[in-house]
Amino acid sequence: MRKKVIAGNWKMNMLPDEAINFIQELTPMVEKTQNEVILCVPYTDLFYALLNAQNTNIKIGAQNMHFEQSGAYTGEVSGKMLKAIGVEYVIIGHSERRQYFAENDETVNKKVKSAFENNLKPIVCVGETLEQRENGETKEIITSQTEKALNGLSNEQVENTIIAYEPIWAIGTGKTATKEDANDSIKAIREKIRQIYGQNTAERVIIQYGGSVKSSNAGELFEMSDIDGGLVGGASLKVEEFSKIVNYNS
Ligand code: PGA
Repeated sequence: MRKKVIAGNWKMNMLPDEAINFIQELTPMVEKTQNEVILCVPYTDLFYALLNAQNTNIKIGAQNMHFEQSGAYTGEVSGKMLKAIGVEYVIIGHSERRQYFAENDETVNKKVKSAFENNLKPIVCVGETLEQRENGETKEIITSQTEKALNGLSNEQVENTIIAYEPIWAIGTGKTATKEDANDSIKAIREKIRQIYGQNTAERVIIQYGGSVKSSNAGELFEMSDIDGGLVGGASLKVEEFSKIVNYNS
């Protein structure tokens, strides 16, 4: 049985004092859950978040990283730097990074490889635009993004990758994919992984759904056969709401 993994993506929100308060409030609310809880926070919150999440079941992730270890890349942060302060997870290839910061399948693959070199677990985002969906290209797009992101990884590395299927038209819009649609898309991703890496790896890889997940729809989504939890944006900024999503099954 795969476990459910619920990750918050704060995006460019939350100052350090807000992050500290959030984690202190969240800690007792989620301490009994069997689900894995991750908060992906801005770089400037990482250190405070890590300190306050010590000795809790809350794991901390970053939202991006550079693929080189160090060098003349003004303004960038490497996987090596994240690992050095104790970060465990990193979101890679979020659609906002693909859209506004020119990330593509090639840079996503470089970042995923660099994450593993630095013992970070990547949360790799894939998803189709509304136009692609309307043209019937969803499965082709998301399976191709998945294949390219994972290119060159070992089976063990693929099993330690979290994939977040996030239809772009559902992010921050209040529109959620139906649970059947989301499950079908995730099944297609799992099938692609099965074709390349075999049945065992495909059965082990965690594939989340993301896009307007909230406490009122989390349960029905996460109970589908292939949806292994969620990547949660807006609803991860409110501690009550996020704790309800984490505790959807308790
Ligand atoms: P949303 O964002 O939950 O606000 O739609 C999800 C995401 O972008 O990861």
